[in-house]
Amino acid sequence: MAGELQIDFTALKDAGARKGRGAGGSAGASTWVVLAGADLAMGAETRRILGGAVDLIKRAATTAKFKGQSGQSLDLLAPTGLPCERLIVMGTARKAEEAGPVDALNLGGAIQGKIDGQPRVTILFEMPDVAADADKAAADLMLGLRLRAYKFDIYKTKKKDDAKTAPKSQISIALADPAGAKREAKHREALAGGVTLARTLVNEPPNVLFPASFAQRAKDLQKLGVEVQVLDEKALAKLGFRMLLGVGQGSDHDSKVVIMRWNGAKSAKTKPIAFVGKGVCFDSGGISIKPAASMEDMKGDMAGAACVVGLMHALAARKAKVNVIGAIGLVENMPDGKAQRPGDIVTSLSGQTVELINTDAEGRLVLGDVLWYVQDKYKPQFMVNLATLTGAILVALGTEHAGLFSNNDELSARLTEAGAVTGEKVWRMPLGAAYDKLLDSKFADMKHTGGRYAGSITAAQFLQRFVNGVPWAHLDIAGTGMASPSSDINQSWGSGWGVRLLDRLISDHYEG
Ligand code: BES
Ligand code: MN
Ligand code: ZN
Repeated sequence: MAGELQIDFTALKDAGARKGRGAGGSAGASTWVVLAGADLAMGAETRRILGGAVDLIKRAATTAKFKGQSGQSLDLLAPTGLPCERLIVMGTARKAEEAGPVDALNLGGAIQGKIDGQPRVTILFEMPDVAADADKAAADLMLGLRLRAYKFDIYKTKKKDDAKTAPKSQISIALADPAGAKREAKHREALAGGVTLARTLVNEPPNVLFPASFAQRAKDLQKLGVEVQVLDEKALAKLGFRMLLGVGQGSDHDSKVVIMRWNGAKSAKTKPIAFVGKGVCFDSGGISIKPAASMEDMKGDMAGAACVVGLMHALAARKAKVNVIGAIGLVENMPDGKAQRPGDIVTSLSGQTVELINTDAEGRLVLGDVLWYVQDKYKPQFMVNLATLTGAILVALGTEHAGLFSNNDELSARLTEAGAVTGEKVWRMPLGAAYDKLLDSKFADMKHTGGRYAGSITAAQFLQRFVNGVPWAHLDIAGTGMASPSSDINQSWGSGWGVRLLDRLISDHYEG
């Protein structure tokens, strides 16, 4: 795919030794990137390598009002006395309240934004005023480069021709201890693969990615050692997934449930942790059909399932020492003569009966059966589900935070902390008996929507009726998983949100 980078780690001292090679030479134009903090503070080795060019930078900085602030950069072409054709100075100074471990990741993204398409780049990675672990910072920088470089352009036939002729970018990250950085980078390469896989699944159009083809992409994880089981409609009917099957019954595409299993813990008997994703490959609303405006966005209504597949990829690729179940419910919600109706009463896998109110509230019906199945069959330590569940969470939290709903304070705290560290932030919302009561039905054990108010909370209350008391968290990612705003590390419509968050949750608390 376009945007591929070849990245290696080299010794900073050798970057200086390359002086003289390449200037106007046969290897093609090269770009150097250096870092400068407040008042143009640069690392000692960087200053040594730049030599007389430091003055050049100072003069240019004065004219360009470059002060080394994060977000600022300085671009010098054909810099005198250096063996490169272009020198980019990236500002790294941040206001105190912004500082944190996300820095190197976002810096990597910002650098890739500047060097995109350049054939040969050397980044002199010496952080002038950040005391973070240098190995991890360099690996984060690499991850930032990769995430920013991701492009979903396989359906752009004209651009594709250009991309074919463009050479792969060769990027060297030059730093004091390349061996240490390389060790850390293995984890980040796995993460990059997981995040970009999730993004691609979200970006794919719904005529390409439907339940069967999605299931096939999940099956590809077998190459990494993940066990993958696909339950088809016959199997699901036999098991009793009637609530999930009802959602897909108006579609020509058969519904599927995919169970992925990664056994990385020392003992196969260690209780797994479980991740469950909403995989509505297209959500037309069904009989309660949506208005036409932006309906095309509903191809992304499987971002929760995409995250679970991306996470399983990352965990398997880095051989995480943990037992994990990933379960996704794959359906298409369509209007049709066979589609289910408002007023229908369905019996869920749990045995509870549900009166349907609005067929556009389909995600909770899919998840309810999968959550019940997972807790019953795998007895997990806890379950986390992800779903583009409600438009109401966009009203409440916008695109900055995902909504977090949970029956467990420890799991909530850990998710919140992992969110702060990775920048994939979550905000806890309330649950409670008064909200739960809004789901009482005249005719069945419950109805499936709760009325106009607190729409994200009543959706979560519905899910909670299917977790059977197991520690559980629900992430409503309708605002974060799709139609994402561009950032330093993401220019894609589908952000792959949640893969880094959950990988971090696992590596911080559940491995070893
Ligand atoms: N997939 C939608 C939620 C959604 C909205 C995701 C916007 C991403 C962006 C979900 O299935 C849905 O339609 N929810 C309804 C629930 C309502 C009918 C109770 C909603 O939010 O309006
Ligand atoms: Mn819907
Ligand atoms: Zn939906």
